[in-house]
Amino acid sequence: MISETPAPRRFFPSAPLKGRIRVPGDKSISHRSLMFGALAVGRTTISGLLEGEDVLATAAALRQMGAVIGRDGEDWVVDGVGTGGFLPPSAALEMGNSGTSTRLLMGLIASQAITATFTGDASLSRRPMGRVIEPLAQMGAAFQSSPGDTLPLTMTGIEPAIPITYRLPVASAQVKSAVLLAGLNTPGITTVIEPVPTRDHTERMLAGFGAVLEIGEEDGARVIRIHGQPELRPQTIDVPGDPSSAAFFAVAASIVPGSDLVIENVGLNPTRAGLFAVLRQMGARIEELDGREVGGEPVADLRVRHAPLTGIEVDPALAPSMIDEFPVLFVAAAVAQGRTVTRGLEELRVKESDRIAAMAAALTLVGARVQETEDGLIIDGTGGEPLPGSTEPITTHLDHRIAMSMAVAGLASRDGVEVDDTSPIATSFPNFTALLEGAAR
Ligand code: S3P
Repeated sequence: MISETPAPRRFFPSAPLKGRIRVPGDKSISHRSLMFGALAVGRTTISGLLEGEDVLATAAALRQMGAVIGRDGEDWVVDGVGTGGFLPPSAALEMGNSGTSTRLLMGLIASQAITATFTGDASLSRRPMGRVIEPLAQMGAAFQSSPGDTLPLTMTGIEPAIPITYRLPVASAQVKSAVLLAGLNTPGITTVIEPVPTRDHTERMLAGFGAVLEIGEEDGARVIRIHGQPELRPQTIDVPGDPSSAAFFAVAASIVPGSDLVIENVGLNPTRAGLFAVLRQMGARIEELDGREVGGEPVADLRVRHAPLTGIEVDPALAPSMIDEFPVLFVAAAVAQGRTVTRGLEELRVKESDRIAAMAAALTLVGARVQETEDGLIIDGTGGEPLPGSTEPITTHLDHRIAMSMAVAGLASRDGVEVDDTSPIATSFPNFTALLEGAAR
């Protein structure tokens, strides 16, 4: 879990980023590979698993419920308990900073007759769980949560649960996945209607494990039906590199003059790749090399060269495909030529921190021109000049992506940027600073 002692660090103006790097495995896919492996009958082998704190929290929780999870050399192996086979955990499931672990495991527990308590750190304990409690309660699960539907929370699942048809009120892959995973151990067909498509790793990977899903379109919405109680077959999974981690290096190489960096093995699932499209619209030079498929997901190496960026109006329809990448996009906008306008980003206010407010404060502190609106930021860039920087530390609010984004801002600053606490970076990208130092020598 995130260490109690903050780890402040100063990020200085950088030499060009050069060479080839490989970012760690995709966080969303890593969580899911452990969870589905834990529900299969037999042994699942996973290569390229992200060994970040969030994913390790998922592994620990699954072990508490009976799955056997270990290492075999570089690979991870999971001996599953079968759909509906979880044991009641004897202690609270400690979720650390991880919303994905919490919400997806709540879905899995909802349709099994077991009771579990979820706890989290200060950031996770502020995040809304009502969005998953509502559909899972409709399926028959019972909840006792802290005020405002937050953690700590105790839930009791039900067997058999009731199959429902649920229309997502917010564009959230976590809510979609929670309902589909509850549907896994529910007799009959559970349906999720998704007006705005979100990342589809759950659907892709569950189909690979042998679950029966029907995916179609009705009245402009995506409709996903899952047939309950399949026997899941163990898989061999190769986790592609995380585009959300590659994003920091794509922006860093775009804004640090002289950079020419190849980021290898980046997952480019269209439900995740919005940032690269937006950076290209701003003038970034990003080439996809050696496009291929890894673990059922499109993957390529990205060659990113420094280029002058121009501000744009970001299409709000792209938001779900780059929802975790806005903090670092704001950094790119802060050094672009002209104005960047982002809208429709209310969901950013309920991430690991309120990312609209946190980035407005952090960028203002380092001398960027930023205006906060209810649902986005309006940023007037420097036109390629470095940001002034600051000796006063920016506040990360236990949010890994704020810390990494402001590290990137430090590279493109005059005096450097002081980050109050880099320890949350270990939730998703443990070797971030080492890779940065290696690329910018
Ligand atoms: C995730 C979904 C997104 C994203 C998060 C990971 C997932 O959250 O922000 O980092 O793995 O399903 P929401 O479902 O809240 O949009």
